[in-house]
Amino acid sequence: MYELVQEYYGKTLQNSGDLKTTACCDISQVPEWLRSLLSNVHDEVLDRYYGCGLVAPALLEGCRILDLGCGSGRDVYVLAQLVGKTGSVVGIDMTSEQLEVARRHQAYHAEKFGYDNITFIEGYIEQLDQMGLEPHSFDIIVSNCVVNLSPNKEAVLSGVKHLLKAGGEFYFSDVYANRRVPNEVKNDPVLYGECLGGALYWNDFLRIAHQFGFIDPRLVEDRPLYVTDPVLKNKVGSIQFYSATFRLFNLDQLETACEDYGQAVIYHGTIPEHPHRILLDKHHDIESGKVFPVCGNTWLMLQDTRFSKHFTFIGNFSKHYGIFQGCGSVIPFENTVINLSGQCC
Ligand SMILES: C[S@@+](CC[C@H](N)C(=O)[O-])C[C@H]1O[C@@H](n2cnc3c(N)ncnc32)[C@H](O)[C@@H]1O
Repeated sequence: MYELVQEYYGKTLQNSGDLKTTACCDISQVPEWLRSLLSNVHDEVLDRYYGCGLVAPALLEGCRILDLGCGSGRDVYVLAQLVGKTGSVVGIDMTSEQLEVARRHQAYHAEKFGYDNITFIEGYIEQLDQMGLEPHSFDIIVSNCVVNLSPNKEAVLSGVKHLLKAGGEFYFSDVYANRRVPNEVKNDPVLYGECLGGALYWNDFLRIAHQFGFIDPRLVEDRPLYVTDPVLKNKVGSIQFYSATFRLFNLDQLETACEDYGQAVIYHGTIPEHPHRILLDKHHDIESGKVFPVCGNTWLMLQDTRFSKHFTFIGNFSKHYGIFQGCGSVIPFENTVINLSGQCC
């Protein structure tokens, strides 16, 4: 699989327009504050963007970030601006052609930003322990449309767990399926390269996340993906694919379900770019100044992480009131069917 993927991203695809699904994001979905950072990124890097979501969580200044499968470096160069000169970003990719583009423009971006806080490493994301990276040294690990391409997703999650600081998070966009992908789809080289063949059934992903200590994965956003190529569409049949962004906090105290301890938080409105509300995940859009009831897990995700000083915390874990309603539903993705005409890519 490695050779197939290297060939696809190193040689077959020349730019985002060559993709055969709607995976690549519509620029209109990108918030205004992020668009200005994207405008600082070199055109050749932008042209070779093959991601399927946004991997820029709030509150990044000073953070140390790792990007798994960074490709030509679009997200690395955006994140480098968000962490600022006191932070740093490491990008890892196995395809030399992709890294070559990323590295070719490193000096350009250093001059534009006024600092160089970036390192690119050529390697496999299943071997994160062999890259000289200090264990538990990253605040955040991101990835954009890469884990589905890995033949050993367990090794990736194990490496992520080992490199994250306590209270850090794996914040990543990827492709998921509404069922287990059959072998005839999995083994089709183009469907695999297009990030569909290797996509996990969403509930298998949750199981693997649990297995590696990410007890309460939070879905941030999702959208259905459409196969635009008629031949591939026929091969895929009734399988529905989704692009989804999850955040996995590295917090060992989390419980397997959202439990109600009568707790609440108040957001101070102090996170840059988010003065009115902060979106923790799809089910937690927290308005500033308002008492917001939360389950024990959400309380910990805000109290034991970089978000802590931006909230007032009400309550404790002394009394349990049963299961907390409203933290998610059975199938997490929305099944919205949209008219494809006018989609960007
Ligand atoms: C769909 S592209 C996404 C690239 C980049 N994240 C972006 O948003 O443009 C997938 C990238 O992941 C890299 N990749 C896939 N599997 C990998 C692996 N096992 N180890 C390292 N890199 C990998 C590929 O080389 C390719 O650059």
